[in-house]
Formats: sequence, structure tokens, C-alpha cells
Amino acid sequence: MNAVRTGLRYCFNSAEAGLGHVFPASWNPLLNLGALGFFFYWIITVSGIYIYIFFDTGVHNAYESIEYMTHEQWYLAGTMRSLHRYASDGLVVVMMLHMVREFARDRYRGVRWFSWVTGVPVMVLVFVAGISGYWLVWDQLAQYVAIVSTEWLDVLPIFGEPIARNFMSADALESRFFTLMIFMHIAIPLIALAILWIHLQRVTKPRINPPRGLALSVFGALIALSLIHPALSQAPADLGKVPAFVGIDWFYLPLFPLMEALPGSVTWGLGACLLVIAVAMPWLPPLKRARPAKVDLANCNGCARCFNDCPYNAISLVARTDGLAFEREPVVDPDLCVSCGLCAGSCPTSMPFRRLSDLSPGIDMPDRTIADLRDETEERAAGLNGRNRVLVFGCGHGPDLSTLNSRSVGTVTLTCIGQLPPAFVDYVLSRDLADGVVLTGCRENSCDARFGIDWTVARLEGRRDPHLRARVPRDRLKTAWIGAQGTSRLSKIVDEFAKDLPSAAAVRRTRPTAPTQATRTEEVQDV
Ligand code: HEM
Ligand code: SF4
Ligand code: SF4
Repeated sequence: MNAVRTGLRYCFNSAEAGLGHVFPASWNPLLNLGALGFFFYWIITVSGIYIYIFFDTGVHNAYESIEYMTHEQWYLAGTMRSLHRYASDGLVVVMMLHMVREFARDRYRGVRWFSWVTGVPVMVLVFVAGISGYWLVWDQLAQYVAIVSTEWLDVLPIFGEPIARNFMSADALESRFFTLMIFMHIAIPLIALAILWIHLQRVTKPRINPPRGLALSVFGALIALSLIHPALSQAPADLGKVPAFVGIDWFYLPLFPLMEALPGSVTWGLGACLLVIAVAMPWLPPLKRARPAKVDLANCNGCARCFNDCPYNAISLVARTDGLAFEREPVVDPDLCVSCGLCAGSCPTSMPFRRLSDLSPGIDMPDRTIADLRDETEERAAGLNGRNRVLVFGCGHGPDLSTLNSRSVGTVTLTCIGQLPPAFVDYVLSRDLADGVVLTGCRENSCDARFGIDWTVARLEGRRDPHLRARVPRDRLKTAWIGAQGTSRLSKIVDEFAKDLPSAAAVRRTRPTAPTQATRTEEVQDV
């Protein structure tokens, strides 16, 4: 399983990097799959409502009404029909890519099981809705889909009478049955939408809207496709004949040839096994889990920054229980915490300057504490020589940092770059631990912990607390959001940055090398 995941991750990283040359960073479609899914869903809904106005829901006239839309009213109703079809295809593509990508990035196991497990019924319902849509056209493909799927359903003793009988002759097919199909085609997407709402309950601020430019480009492409290559029906259904050849739709119906070829009991068995495996995947071994974030009330002032920054709704604020003069305290739900460390990066008490007391922030990661990070930073810095020394902070999901270590470059790996309080940059530069600092990690919009890059950039730019202090020389700081495939690029970026660092030695000469005790105390308080 791990080998499959690693291979897939490599493919996704390469594809994301490739698309990164074509699209602006925030538009990269592979980094907006969930949001694109919603976008396609809205297009399907609006176009579906429009074509429903023209659609004759009786089995005998359904085909003609769709032909009318396609050929007579091609400019509006026909285009809406094509949009409905192509947006549905798009939905399947982005949904499947989204699912495989979450698997490849290992974002479905342990406490992250919820979004995965709720995604499985959504996937099933999207396919069922699409398949039921093909029936409504009532052409030869619809006839094929109807017969294969009803025969398949009849394998199970669900219905009193075999429903495939409906399709034995035109007289047997009642309009009531057809109306039931239309009802299903409308009800199933609504149920899927309700489950999608549940799907997002464990993530804060889910990205459900693609960037406007990407949305407009996708919409423009769909319109162009609809005009150049409009969706057409096949010949009308004729229950007196078995359709000789049907062009299968490979987005929604790829399993139909298999369902036709294999006995129903086998395909039901296979389907059930796949479903059970899909639902059980988050709990399949090897399960690894870092310990959840831990609150230390003695160092917490209830400022709520950790609560605001947590990407997984894992922190709640409750009334203070320790008698200190603060109103609130954070409580971490270990069943929701993915151990990303963003909360530790946001806590004002995560101050590397602290020497008078232990470096024990209000909230911290037991497996990678802020104190450990400071010790490691100092250790790496102590080993650096040369004129332009650089410290690189990066996360384990980004480029491989181990290859960068040299006489003048040291590296520190964190759970996520969002775990790094900006005060560390200040600490490194003001204490002359290095001449420059590089922060690196995943690609923009692709952070494993969702907001690690967003919060880091906002903190550096002073838009989010804790922000980087104004005194920190910005030309000594570089960010590189380039993802796991960017190791060699990062190496070049670091080299160039080191070369261009503004006369570090000159700055060192004009700066006291160690702050006084008074300065230290002030730094602790000034948070
Ligand atoms: C139409 C179908 C779907 C849509 C529109 C959709 C949409 C989304 C969105 C918007 C997010 C939040 C992304 C973010 O803001 O970071 C998300 C998260 C997620 N989705 Fe889906 N999803 C769909 C189907 C699925 C399926 C079929 C699966 C897998 C079986 C799945 C698995 C996940 C997982 C595991 C996450 C959470 C990732 C994390 O831990 O951050 N989704 N989805
Ligand atoms: S480690 Fe991440 S998920 Fe856990 S509480 Fe902190 S910010 Fe939330
Ligand atoms: S960010 Fe730190 S000080 Fe603020 S509430 Fe969270 S733990 Fe307490």
C-alpha cells in the first residue's frame, strides 16, 4: 500500500509541478479539486433546472423533447443540455482525482477518517445520479443502461417483481416507472449534497469555491465544448429490438460492459468488497499517529489564536478552569487533532527568546516541541561557517532538506511550516545564528495541513498574529513554496539567496552579537 501511495504521490507532485508552469499558483486545477467539484455541481444544478422546463417527463415524448432542445433550441436549451452533460463528466473526473489525491497524500487515515468515509457514499451517489440521467434521454444507450442496470438490481431480492420486466416491451413500460426515474435523478444529487455538507464538517473554512479566474476558464471551456461538440442522443429506444451497438460513456458507465459480461452475483460480490475496503481504508494498518497537541494552562492567556488557526476544528474554547484571571481556555479534542502543529506556531508564548523560564508554550506538540525546535535551531546554527550562513526551515511534506546541509547551510524540519512561530526568524537573525533564513514547504494551496502556508505568509506580512516584527530585515528572509519535487530547485534558490544576501558581515559589525538581559525580558513581554 505504501509503495502505491508513494508512486501516486510522485505522479501527483509531478503533474502539479507541470501544471504550475501553465497556471498561476492559485489556479492550479489539481490544487482545487474539491472546489471544482462544487463548481461543477452548481453548473449541473442550474443547467438541469433549465432543461427540465423543456423536458417531457412521459416516456413516449421524452426523446422528442430532448431532440427539440438539441436541434431547434440548440443555442440555449441545447447548450444547457451539453453543459449539463460535460459538467457531470467534469464532476466525475475531479471527484476521482480528489479521492486518489487524498489517498496519495495520506490524508485519510487515523483521525482524518471522517472526510474519507463520508466521501465514499458521495462517490456512489454521483455515479447513480449520472446513470439515472442516461435513462431519461430514452435513446438506445438509455435502453441499454436501463436493461443492464435493472437486470443487475433484480439479482437481489429487493423488489417483489423483477423490474427488468418493464423493459420487455413498449407497452410494459409505464410512464409511472419513468417518472420514478426522474424523481431519483433529482433526489439523489440532493442527498449527495447533504452528505457533502457532512463531508466538510471536520475541516475549518473548507475551500468550496475555486479562484474566480479558474472558475471562469473552466466555464468558458465548457461553453466552447458545448458549442463545438454538442451532446447528442443516439437513435430512439426501441424495446422491440436489442440495440446492436451502443457507444458507452466512459465517465459514468465504464463498469457496464463488466456487469453485462459477468454473472450478477459476482459483480455484486465484487462491488460489496470494494465498498467495504473503501470504507475500512482509514483503519487498515500500518496506523501511525503522532500525539495530539497539548495545552499547558499555566502558560496560556486564552487569546484564542490557536482556536482561530486550527484547520481541523480540533480546538474549542471553554470557560477558564484554573482560576487565573483569563476568561477562556483552549481544549484540544484528540479525536480531531491531526498533529499538524499550526496551533503551536500561533501561540504568543511560543517564544524562542525565553530563557528566564522553560520554553513551554500554552499549546505544544508533544512529539516535536517548540523547545526542541529552538535547541535544534541553535545546534544547526552552531555548526555553520562561512560568510553567508543560511538556516532553512521546512516541513516533512515539502522538499527533502537533508541534501541541503553543508558548511554554510543548516536545516530544521517541522511538522508543518505553520508550526514555526515567526519569532524564530527574528531569533535567528537578531542573535546572529545565521545571515539569512529560508522557509519552505508544500506548494501554495497544497499544504498538507491546509493552512500552514497561508498562515505563515499572513504572519510574515503582518496580517495575522503572531506577526513578524518590523525590525526583522526582510531581505534576509526568503520563502519557497515548491513542494516535495522541488529539492534541486530549492538548492539553487538557497545558493542564490546566500550569494545575494546583503553584505552580512557589514551588518554583523554594526549589530551587538548578544542582547542584554533587559532586552531579553522585553522580548518575552512584547508578544
Ligand atoms: C463531489 C464529490 C466531492 C466534493 C465536491 C468534495 C469536496 C471536498 C472539499 C471542498 C474538501 C475540503 C478541501 C479543503 O478545503 O482543504 C474535501 C476534503 C476531503 N475530501 Fe472530498 N469531496 C468529494 C468527494 C470525496 C470523496 C469521494 C472522497 C474519498 C472517498 C473524499 C475525501 C476527502 C478527504 C479525505 C478530505 C479531507 C482532507 C483533509 O484531511 O484535509 N472526498 N472534499
Ligand atoms: S495540531 Fe493542528 S489539528 Fe491539532 S489542535 Fe493544533 S492546529 Fe489543530
Ligand atoms: S494560542 Fe496559546 S495563549 Fe492563546 S489560547 Fe491558545 S494556547 Fe492559550
